[in-house]
Amino acid sequence: MIYWLESVDSTNRCLFARRLPRWDALVAREQTEGRGRRGRSWESPVGGLYMSVVVENDSLLPLRAGLAARDALQPHCSERIGLKWPNDLLCVSGKLGGILCEIDGELAVAGIGLNLAGEPPIEGATTLEAAGGSLPPAADWQVRLEPLATAIIARLRELVRLPAPEFLAHYRVHEQLLGQPVAWEGGCGTALAVGIDGALEVRTADGTEWLHAGEVSLA
Ligand code: BTN
Repeated sequence: MIYWLESVDSTNRCLFARRLPRWDALVAREQTEGRGRRGRSWESPVGGLYMSVVVENDSLLPLRAGLAARDALQPHCSERIGLKWPNDLLCVSGKLGGILCEIDGELAVAGIGLNLAGEPPIEGATTLEAAGGSLPPAADWQVRLEPLATAIIARLRELVRLPAPEFLAHYRVHEQLLGQPVAWEGGCGTALAVGIDGALEVRTADGTEWLHAGEVSLA
């Protein structure tokens, strides 16, 4: 079941508060205190998709949610949508969306934020419209977003069933860091692979390192 809210502080926070069953979801038209990764905020004006889904936790969940959002959005976009480990959705023109997975006890939530229309909310961001895409017009925002929200959930349901090696074979096709020189806080190297626990393997001057979290950019 998908619940629709005109405005909420954060769909992730609200979903935790409601203790909904697995695969229920909240979609908001705007968020007033959207949460981003690493304690950042997520600008969430009208014109985006802000959605949280109750899921079973697993170490690959952020990657699975990113690929689900990518696959559901791609048919609406003329530019190719790629992924940047661990869970950014990127177009040539910038960051199109991000994923924030949070856990509270038994409950895991996959939060998905996509910039669809209007001004890019921050520098370095883009929108589906700016990338030459759009969703079919509809009388109101819920009717417009419903097919995309449903497609993301359906794709995520497929992806969580895949064993890690099979899932990673799909994920790898879209991961833009692999084979590229990358830099992170405290190091640089070449991104080699994503492991079955979701870590990024990088080759450095001193050998191999596994990155488990953090910000990695193309060097
Ligand atoms: C990132 O920093 O790249 C992740 C952003 C995740 C934003 C989404 S919007 C829906 C859900 N609710 C939140 O408060 N955050 C996530």
